[in-house]
Amino acid sequence: MTKQQIPELRAVEKYGADRSFLIPILHEVQEEYHFLPEHALRNIASVMNISLVDVYGVATFFTSFSLEPKGKHLVTLCMGTACHVRNSRGLADEVSRFLGISPGETTSDMLFSLETVNCLGACALGPIAVVDGRYHGQMTASKLERVLKKTAKDEGLEK
Ligand code: FES
Repeated sequence: MTKQQIPELRAVEKYGADRSFLIPILHEVQEEYHFLPEHALRNIASVMNISLVDVYGVATFFTSFSLEPKGKHLVTLCMGTACHVRNSRGLADEVSRFLGISPGETTSDMLFSLETVNCLGACALGPIAVVDGRYHGQMTASKLERVLKKTAKDEGLEK
């Protein structure tokens, strides 16, 4: 395997080995693997010449990083007050049933991860769901199921 084929080495080459670039490097690596595997963190520490403890420190400090494998597609539901009063709990229950997982979990086919957050900053449009970074306002269970079915279909799978 060449350096260009190893995501963490490619990211360090792209940004440079200065530790001030550690966060964007970790983001780029997470985009490739959908989480931060230990071997990647070890490689990063080694080529950037910083301690593995420091790399783990950053990787565990920010909630946007995950050390656990995640699905290819991330579904985020807002449970903040404005979304809560518009039935985000019911939406979460329906989506959990549809995907067969609870918030914080990943489907066994590694296609979807489901997570909840407390505010996505678009309260007027609640309840909000974000699928792969795309905001969907005034979400209902049936609308979200359509989005997830289309996502699965685009992957050649049926949900
Ligand atoms: S409470 Fe849901 S976006 Fe703010």
